[in-house]
Amino acid sequence: MRKPIIAGNWKLNKTVEESIALVEDIKVKIMDFDKDQIPTVIVSPVFTSLKSVADILEHGQGIYLGAQDCYWEDSGAFTGEVSVPMLKDICVTYIIAGHSERRQYFGETDEAVNLKAKAILAHGLIPIICCGETLGQREAGQTDEVVKNQVTVDLKDLAEEQIAKSVIAYEPVWAIGTGKTCESREANRVIKLIRDTVAEISSRDAADKIRILYGGSVKPSTIEEQMSQSDIDGALVGGASLKAEDFVQLIKGTMLIRTSK
Ligand code: 13P
Repeated sequence: MRKPIIAGNWKLNKTVEESIALVEDIKVKIMDFDKDQIPTVIVSPVFTSLKSVADILEHGQGIYLGAQDCYWEDSGAFTGEVSVPMLKDICVTYIIAGHSERRQYFGETDEAVNLKAKAILAHGLIPIICCGETLGQREAGQTDEVVKNQVTVDLKDLAEEQIAKSVIAYEPVWAIGTGKTCESREANRVIKLIRDTVAEISSRDAADKIRILYGGSVKPSTIEEQMSQSDIDGALVGGASLKAEDFVQLIKGTMLIRTSK
């Protein structure tokens, strides 16, 4: 059975003080939630807030720390980058790799995502590998091909057990920050395709274990229907993760839907 995940991607938002306030608020609100029922909860602040948030999570309530990106080399002359061991050093557990905003604005390729995934797993951390088609690709009927290709390159040469512990987020680019959520059954169809691709390039066992999230305008009003789908294992959330009230509603919505995925 795959444990659901609710992961917040805070993107380029919040000062250290604001980050601490948000996490404190979430901590208090989920304090009494049943530990057996609660999904894996992840918050991913900007790099400058990570250490301060890590410090208040140390004796926290099972909220995991995520980073929004990393570099694949451990150290060296790579100005501006942050490495996986450095993130591990401050208790980061999950690292987002290949978010569409990094692909779109910073030219990140699938080959780079693959190098990042390898580095993250080599240091015992868990990658959240993002994929998804643009509006133009969807309208041209290329969704399946685009997503399949991304996943195949992103996971290239990873061992079966590494893939099994990884997380993939299917985030259609046209649904991110637009308020246009991908229809749940369609999101589930693409996520099933991703799972079958994992089975093809790795094994059925890895495909059954890997957690695949949906991302793109997820809100408290959409989460229950999304979580009711056979293959959606949780959500990677932007806007709605910036308000404790909304983020906690997503956690609650996930807990209401008990499935045997
Ligand atoms: P929104 O939830 O704001 O659409 O962002 C989704 C996303 O990009 C999460 O990584």
